[in-house]
Amino acid sequence: MNKQTTMLALLLAAASFTAGCTSETGSKPSDQTATQPPSQNNSHKNTQAQAQPDPLTDERTKAALATTVMKNNSGVQEVTNMNDVLVVVNKQRNLQSTFEPSDLVEPNIPFSFKEKSPRKMMRKEAATALEELFAQAKAENIDLLGQSAYRPYSMQKSVFARLTKKYGSEEKANAVSAYPGQSEHQTGLAIDITSKRMGNTLEQTFGDTPEGKWLAANAPKYGFIIRYPKGKESITGYAYEPWHIRYVGKTVAQEITEKGITLEEYLSQ
Ligand code: DAL
Ligand code: ZN
Repeated sequence: MNKQTTMLALLLAAASFTAGCTSETGSKPSDQTATQPPSQNNSHKNTQAQAQPDPLTDERTKAALATTVMKNNSGVQEVTNMNDVLVVVNKQRNLQSTFEPSDLVEPNIPFSFKEKSPRKMMRKEAATALEELFAQAKAENIDLLGQSAYRPYSMQKSVFARLTKKYGSEEKANAVSAYPGQSEHQTGLAIDITSKRMGNTLEQTFGDTPEGKWLAANAPKYGFIIRYPKGKESITGYAYEPWHIRYVGKTVAQEITEKGITLEEYLSQ
């Protein structure tokens, strides 16, 4: 190895470490792709072809996993793009406890409960898309109910504490529920959906019901993905959740769904 090659190898190793998008099982092929500095690729392409930058590539580049985290004073990785529609919050990528989205609104959709609550709120763009999704569901006689959307840090703390008690350990609770600061419900871009048929519960059997199937097939058209799909547990860090949809915008949602990948994989490409 000459000096230049050694330097490149070191840079790639560092980028791969920061990407940190997979669970403790180690690196995945998607990690490798995250090692390419996307902005460089882009500028290289543009100077060569003199083409206009592709807005989607640009968006993906800005939200790339490796470039959107920073270690805080306690060594915890915090996301730097918390207001981005493509923000990735997971077991390796925290939100600050004080983070609250500034454009939360209550979507006009049926919820499984009556009272006013932050759990009914979502960021404006996601709320509008959700209303359209629910209108289409209603037109097709599909009964969906909103169950839990925005959760402030304090609320996630209570949920996690309750589930830790229920399952007997934090580790067991963490297979299905995020540590406070690691839940994308805190971004205001995610919502759990249930139905009357499910008795307002959130269970994996929802995925086999007409409502769950309809949601998986139609959510991407409105900009939502099934964020924790079956078979991707080692990448997302969570068990399959057919009820948890996450807003990422129409084009990205459709690409992610067509390719059968996760948001982590999409932003590592
Ligand atoms: N159930 C998801 C992972 C959350 O707690 O945010
Ligand atoms: Zn959820």
